[in-house]
Amino acid sequence: MRIAVAGATGEVGRMMSQVLQEMGILPSQIAFLASARSEGKEILFNGKNYRVKELTEEILKEGFDYVLFSAGGSASRRFAPIAAKAGSVVIDNSSAFRMDQDVPLVVPEINGNLLRGYRGIVANPNCSTIQMVLSLYRIHERFGIRTIVVSTYQAVSGAGRKGIIELEFQEKGNIESSAFIKQIHRNLVPQIGDIMADGFSTEEMKMVDETRKILDDGNISIWPTTIRVPVEYGHSESIFVETRDPFELEEIHEALRNSEDVVLSEEMITPLEVAGTDLTYVSRVRTFDNRRFLMWNIADNIRVGAATNAVRILKEHLRLNNPA
Ligand SMILES: NC(=O)c1ccc[n+]([C@@H]2O[C@H](COP(=O)([O-])OP(=O)(O)OC[C@H]3O[C@@H](n4cnc5c(N)ncnc54)[C@H](OP(=O)(O)O)[C@@H]3O)[C@@H](O)[C@H]2O)c1
Repeated sequence: MRIAVAGATGEVGRMMSQVLQEMGILPSQIAFLASARSEGKEILFNGKNYRVKELTEEILKEGFDYVLFSAGGSASRRFAPIAAKAGSVVIDNSSAFRMDQDVPLVVPEINGNLLRGYRGIVANPNCSTIQMVLSLYRIHERFGIRTIVVSTYQAVSGAGRKGIIELEFQEKGNIESSAFIKQIHRNLVPQIGDIMADGFSTEEMKMVDETRKILDDGNISIWPTTIRVPVEYGHSESIFVETRDPFELEEIHEALRNSEDVVLSEEMITPLEVAGTDLTYVSRVRTFDNRRFLMWNIADNIRVGAATNAVRILKEHLRLNNPA
């Protein structure tokens, strides 16, 4: 098997390489690609050092089985179709193709079946969306979700390397802001992405559109507020859900326990505890009645929200299309 990682020097790219090794996916050939700035840098993979190469059209024509993209939207828009045309299955972390009708938007635990017989570009959803749908898909199957009101508390690593560097700089007294629109140290910023004419942000609309696409239900009413907080790794979400059918709270617990890669925890979980894990944790599930409930939902944004989901897509695609 031949794999290329495009954006290999970034937060998500480095984690994808790590998760590939952790999951024992050790291709016979692997290429690490990034911008010209990184050419020649070294990446250690499975005990061997590899030199980073510049992402170019030519290199993608070498015919990789899988190309994992995390090099930003414009690089994906330019290069992902070239890789797909060369016969590779492309797993793209950017938002470039997520809402294209012909492109599957995949969280393998929920709709991995879309990968059967599929070749071309597969989109990896937005980090906040992945962890939310993982915790809600069984509840939606069983009771039908009518409304979701969600406030996110998103780590600075969600903005990539530059987000972490900005927080660290500000912790040392430099108060300039460029990755975020206001100071993030000792503060929070209730805007992620650009604000559009209707007042919602682009990040908020990703949660609306992508959740409906993954759960295959355009009627779910979704009301997000996305907030950047001075946490390094781990996105948290306060989620209010209204269902179509009535439930007993124990039935919500049961649906959560039956959700793959989700842990219903009796203890409250905080970002420091989820950093470095591949599970989504739900705690503080509570209700006043039998149609609405609140919960606290939390996961590592770089792993569950990006790298691990991408590698899980690769693994599921392999399993479905290359039966042993
Ligand atoms: N961080 C998250 O939580 C998260 C979650 C889900 C999805 N994503 C998406 O994943 C992508 C990468 O995010 P990140 O957080 O890893 O960002 P990052 O830390 O800033 O890394 C960006 C990577 O892309 C490379 N790159 C940038 N422009 C390029 C170009 N023109 N050609 C080739 N390579 C280029 C960079 O290479 P150099 O090092 O050479 O500059 C670097 O390897 C983005 O599309 C982002 O929206 C991120």
